[in-house]
Amino acid sequence: MRFANRTAIVTGAASGIGLACAGLLLEEGANVVFADIDEGNLSGVMDAMPQAFAKRASPVICDVGNARQVEALVLHALNTYGNFDAMVCAAAVVHRAPFSDLQEDDFDRVIRTNLKGTFLCVQAAAKAMLDQRDRGRDILGSIVTFSDDAAFQSIPHVVPHVLAAGGVEKLTLAMARGFANAGIRINTVATGMTDTPLLRAATGTGKTAFNTGMARMVLGRLSDADEIAKVAAFLASNEASAMTGQIIGTGAH
Ligand SMILES: NC(=O)c1ccc[n+]([C@@H]2O[C@H](COP(=O)([O-])OP(=O)(O)OC[C@H]3O[C@@H](n4cnc5c(N)ncnc54)[C@H](O)[C@@H]3O)[C@@H](O)[C@H]2O)c1
Repeated sequence: MRFANRTAIVTGAASGIGLACAGLLLEEGANVVFADIDEGNLSGVMDAMPQAFAKRASPVICDVGNARQVEALVLHALNTYGNFDAMVCAAAVVHRAPFSDLQEDDFDRVIRTNLKGTFLCVQAAAKAMLDQRDRGRDILGSIVTFSDDAAFQSIPHVVPHVLAAGGVEKLTLAMARGFANAGIRINTVATGMTDTPLLRAATGTGKTAFNTGMARMVLGRLSDADEIAKVAAFLASNEASAMTGQIIGTGAH
């Protein structure tokens, strides 16, 4: 039980990789705050929660692009469970459009959610972790972010997603050193093509974008969300205590 008595927040926890991460952390003993903007999906996830996990899981409707809501999310974890150890930032959107048709609003929406949202979550998490460390608490102090691997970078119809992912990687690299003295680690999962709703939105219904991305997947198949969750949980845990500022790819070259 790598996360017994630990508390994690997972954003984007109502779907795909975030949901798989939240479920795995629960199975491994953590208290888990499931954060998502999609109220309907989130309540469906909580309704389906096995009874054994229900008292260690709590839902928070949160828009990661809103600083006040993100601060309230971290406070919820601290007030509900008394400690806060790990942040997994999986909330994201994708907008698919040919580059020349890309609208400013759609560009802004993706950057606000994926890049600014990750920044706000990392900042709020780090503040709370530093505060707990100052009070002498033993916490994991681990943050996991998500970017995208070469498969997505080969699809020209999802440029804002790729730009945001690049920014998330730079944020992770920049803050690894910034957090190191405080014993806070931050790493990124550079996700290859993974079977989630976001992938289907990114590639569309035609085969061209899907096949272009798949051509970069070394294993010749999609990952499933549970496989990515195992990587994220490893990075969040003390098993990765020697790792910070790392960009860990899942399958693409
Ligand atoms: N699936 C892939 O092939 C793939 C490839 C590259 C990168 N990624 C990255 O992996 C991570 C997880 O993606 P996924 O595939 O599980 O996506 P997903 O679409 O299955 O889940 C994303 C979740 O984020 C939530 N969300 C969207 N906007 C939000 C907001 N403003 N505030 C809070 N929650 C919000 C959605 O409601 C959804 O539940 C993302 O960072 C994504 O960019 C995924």
